[in-house]
Amino acid sequence: MADSQKEDNQEARQGPVTPERYRQVLGRFPTGVTLVTGMDGDEPLAIVIGSFVSVSIDPPLVGFFIGSNARTWQRIRKGGSFCVNVLADDQVDMAEAFFARERDPWEGTDWVPGLSGSPVIPSCVASIDCSMFDLMDAGDHYFVVGEVIDLRDHGTGGSPLVFLGGSYGPVGASFRLGP
Ligand SMILES: Cc1cc2nc3c(=O)[nH]c(=O)nc-3n(C[C@H](O)[C@H](O)[C@H](O)COP(=O)(O)O)c2cc1C
Repeated sequence: MADSQKEDNQEARQGPVTPERYRQVLGRFPTGVTLVTGMDGDEPLAIVIGSFVSVSIDPPLVGFFIGSNARTWQRIRKGGSFCVNVLADDQVDMAEAFFARERDPWEGTDWVPGLSGSPVIPSCVASIDCSMFDLMDAGDHYFVVGEVIDLRDHGTGGSPLVFLGGSYGPVGASFRLGP
């Protein structure tokens, strides 16, 4: 790299990589909002997850990142399966209820057991039911990879919920979605 280019890069730096700047700058990147569900015995469990990502088509794999200290994940993990429910833009209350857990968020949330036994929430846009495929260390998170065993497009016509800069919102543009 030329010296002049290095100087330009130095000038462009806005400061060191601190947790605060990491949060602020990464907050410029939008994510979808999902509820990752699972069972502990007879008890349905769910975690609000924004880091959901499609990984591989053959074999069909998806993944997400979970904080290594997340308590609910420790319980879902034991069951060896999970289901990713994609929230719609009119389900902000549901996201907040499952995040805050001030009251039982399952009260008033209809669900059915998926193929894996994990809760499928039919009012969501889509549900991706998985068995555990791999779990990798990733700093203060784990990367959880699931093998997709069942897929449901709930056909609600709902548009997915977006999380950006600490706020929920709609996608903000009309996309032509196939059948
Ligand atoms: C919109 C949104 C997205 C989130 N995405 C993630 C995520 O991708 N990974 C994660 O570990 N926690 C995420 N969280 C935080 C978790 O929902 C949860 O609070 C955290 O895992 C602690 O869980 P616990 O109470 O079971 O310990 C997100 C929260 C919100 C509101």
